[in-house]
Amino acid sequence: MLLTTTTRLARRVPLRLEARRWLQTKLSPPPVAFAFDIDGVLVRGSKTLPCTAPMFKHLLGDNPFRRQIPFILLTNGGGVSEKARAEALSHAFQAGFELKPEQVVQAHTVLKKDVDRYRDKNVLVLGGKGDEVRRVAESYGYRNVFTTLDVLAWDSGVWSLHQITDAEEASAKKGVNFTETPIDAVFIFHDPRNWALDIQILCDVIQSGGRIGAPYVDQGHKPVELVFCNPDLIWKADFPQPRLGQGAFKDAFQAVYKSLTGQHYPYVQYGKPTKPTYDFAREALAQQFKEIYGSMPEETLFCMVGDNPESDIAGANNAGWNSTLVHTGVYDPTKGSPAHTPTQQAEDVFSAVKQVLIEEFERSKGQQH
Ligand code: G3P
Ligand code: MG
Repeated sequence: MLLTTTTRLARRVPLRLEARRWLQTKLSPPPVAFAFDIDGVLVRGSKTLPCTAPMFKHLLGDNPFRRQIPFILLTNGGGVSEKARAEALSHAFQAGFELKPEQVVQAHTVLKKDVDRYRDKNVLVLGGKGDEVRRVAESYGYRNVFTTLDVLAWDSGVWSLHQITDAEEASAKKGVNFTETPIDAVFIFHDPRNWALDIQILCDVIQSGGRIGAPYVDQGHKPVELVFCNPDLIWKADFPQPRLGQGAFKDAFQAVYKSLTGQHYPYVQYGKPTKPTYDFAREALAQQFKEIYGSMPEETLFCMVGDNPESDIAGANNAGWNSTLVHTGVYDPTKGSPAHTPTQQAEDVFSAVKQVLIEEFERSKGQQH
């Protein structure tokens, strides 16, 4: 009996990857796609949750649609390049596939969109280890990127309560006079490691109109732009109770700035639940459909699976997406209803995906008749 390509696929006869990819593009794209939160959904700290690898196996073909379901990872985490994060997570998941960098949308990835505006401006980036986030910013196209460790290496008097380490000194850019190098904008790329140092320098930059150590400027002076990439007050790592996030750092800074000036400092917020981040995620999913199937169905259901009602669920609901709240992270179902109501709740990410795909498959089958 002559086996058609599709039947051979259905019977899982092994085919070369290219052949499988060619076949994939011949299949009509499924009308559903996923964005997965990372912390509290796929991993907790350095531990991959047991439901993660079977979930990906299901997503990649072992599902009612019998084809690959496009997906991305959408996290308020960051601090390294998307490529490095994709490699590290692929290794951690051990799910038999390699994540592509464009499938990883981190808190600061959306800053790729602002490069034209700041390309030749002096920007100060906060967060992450050493100068890791400087290298991420430069990989996006930002040309004049400084860190708070550069400032401390320039003048230890900026914050004499922390002795710069050899590793920090080694990561610092030398020969910059920060009183003569006006900072135009500050980006909080990832969770700061040294809150005291970073809050001190943030206040210095803002109060001196960008020139650290220069006399303070009055209200009318052109303000230094301030951009936070992750609003999370708390997040779930592998500690029994949630940990403070970048949102807590923001509140700490604003509290100190208010004590100093009586003012609240205006800022731009990116990251989940913001619209720019969900718009960016939708484009990234459309790109996945294009790469896998060549096109995206008009009626595609975008599904967010997350553990944090404030960021994952609120953002998905505002974007008109389907949202699933899982019980493996920040949200504790024994503590009452979530602040933002999801489309559905699920024990974990695998049950969430199975639930949504069965319902979507039945719905799409219903539409064919
Ligand atoms: O720092 C990361 C944390 O705020 C949350 O990460 O993956 O749960 O969005 P995620
Ligand atoms: Mg999370």
